[in-house]
Amino acid sequence: MCGIFGYVGRDENAADLVMRGLKKLEYRGYDSWGVAVGHRSRVVLERRIGKIGDAAPDLPPSAIGIGHTRWATHGGVTEDNAHPHLDCAGRLALIHNGIVSNYRELREPLLRAGHRFRSETDTEVVAHLIEDCLAATPVGPQQLVRATMSAFRRLHGLNAIAVADVATGHIAAAKSGSPLVLGWSERGHLLASDFSALLEHTRRVTFVQDGQAALLSRDDCRVFDAHTGDEVTPAVTEVEWEVAATELSGYPDYMTKEIHEQPAMLRRLAETGGEHAHRLAVMIREAADVFIIGCGSAGHAGLAAQYLLARVAGRRVTVASASEFPYLMDFVGAGALVIALSQSGETIDVIDAVRAARRRGARIAALVNVEGSTLWRLADLTVPLSAGPERCVLATKSFTAKLALVLLTAYELAGRAPEAIDLVARAGDEIERLLADDRRDLIRQIADAIHTREHLFVIGRGPSYPLALEAALKVKEVSYIHAEGFAGGDLKHGVIALVERGTPCLVLAPSDETYDDIMAGAMQVKARGAMLIGVSPTPHEAFDYHVPVADLGAATAILNAPPAQLLGYYLALLRGHDPDKPRNLAKSVTVK
Ligand code: G6P
Repeated sequence: MCGIFGYVGRDENAADLVMRGLKKLEYRGYDSWGVAVGHRSRVVLERRIGKIGDAAPDLPPSAIGIGHTRWATHGGVTEDNAHPHLDCAGRLALIHNGIVSNYRELREPLLRAGHRFRSETDTEVVAHLIEDCLAATPVGPQQLVRATMSAFRRLHGLNAIAVADVATGHIAAAKSGSPLVLGWSERGHLLASDFSALLEHTRRVTFVQDGQAALLSRDDCRVFDAHTGDEVTPAVTEVEWEVAATELSGYPDYMTKEIHEQPAMLRRLAETGGEHAHRLAVMIREAADVFIIGCGSAGHAGLAAQYLLARVAGRRVTVASASEFPYLMDFVGAGALVIALSQSGETIDVIDAVRAARRRGARIAALVNVEGSTLWRLADLTVPLSAGPERCVLATKSFTAKLALVLLTAYELAGRAPEAIDLVARAGDEIERLLADDRRDLIRQIADAIHTREHLFVIGRGPSYPLALEAALKVKEVSYIHAEGFAGGDLKHGVIALVERGTPCLVLAPSDETYDDIMAGAMQVKARGAMLIGVSPTPHEAFDYHVPVADLGAATAILNAPPAQLLGYYLALLRGHDPDKPRNLAKSVTVK
């Protein structure tokens, strides 16, 4: 939540550079944005509400700048509440990701000391606190970072902060939870919430650890222990993603791009995922108890894993939403394995749950996409999703990547690894065909037929049940149509009351043992007037629309995802919504 970006270096186009960085971070929040640069030792600022779009701020040339894209927590979506926030003197500009939970206690003495506040945010208190600490810190090359560390030590909550001192040309930063990455380039030094925003400048990065601070200047980038103040040697990593992977490359939006990247990704995972699946299978075999956690789409992938591991490998696992896991943790101890699923590797509920499980002696495996993310670094075993950057707020390719890796693991556990490699590769081929042939037009027509409806229901049984939940999530988060997924047997226990003439109902009906029962449920809603959209290898006279998908056994779950991704996409377009940035959402949820 919230994206932060900073630059100090040799180039005088800091505003432009920061804007480019913010556009790459906008998936983290898009309620408002702001950029600050230095000009004649004063901060010059531009802040606006709404998405960045084509905005080009009118700011003076400068070699130092910071910027922020906001997902509002404290204070409404207004220009005054947008970051950066300034100190009283207009020398410091501060950006923040997280929540300062003790901001009210900190604000009172600052108000009494005469500081003038201009926003309703928890963030602004940090700018004034640093201003205060700066006045009390001896002048010297490290003055800004010393003042920042001493202010940072007084903050409660999980936070990443960065402050530019335009009088001296330094940026200081510190973090206790939200992600922060430093970039080393020939032209200067950078910081960002996510390294993909740095890739156009450098692939040499330092992942700032919790409790660390940093001081950036044109010629130097230094890291400190924020609690002791001691300087530490920064670990510099060369990240793998190419800058091209973060661009649209001719696609109209990231959602389309990422849906279309699935075939190649699945074929790649078929080739390379086996080794990781093997290591995960070894850990599962060694564990006395296995728990799987995730949030949102990752949680649905976890539920799919429960079915696949049970049915393919005869292995029992417990699945929980990561945010609920702390309340079920009494059963977690030494000998337990917690498998955490997360695209970003930064979802706070996942990170908190993993840390708590680790304290109880559990081992941790992570299926995670973003290299160097908090979860990536916390895990005993990291299974990379290898999906490449996912910029659309909706999870698409990262979801199918998780299903593929889980499938590979389940077959590995069952001693049938080659079958899964073949299934995952074929799933890639099948999705490629679906995206190229007339099924795509059919899904567009279905969207056209239902885009004014109030509700959409999705039903599936067994391994198709988590896919029903995921299909409904895709539709509702991007089109804002109320969509709910159900276990096929549950619909008649209440929700059927909402079905009326023409209510669309998506039916996931693979050719497995769920087929007869799911079709029985479909007929019951059809009898009450529902419009049936069948996603199935087999046509059925009750379907008003039939989207044929191949029968790929356990891998049919993977094939059931793209039709709902496309349906959500076309519904969003027909209803006039931005598919990449749905309202109120953010891709990386780093606050509780
Ligand atoms: C948010 C996003 C979802 C995502 C979930 C978990 O809610 O909007 O698309 O599935 O977070 O994110 P993660 O990065 O942990 O997979």
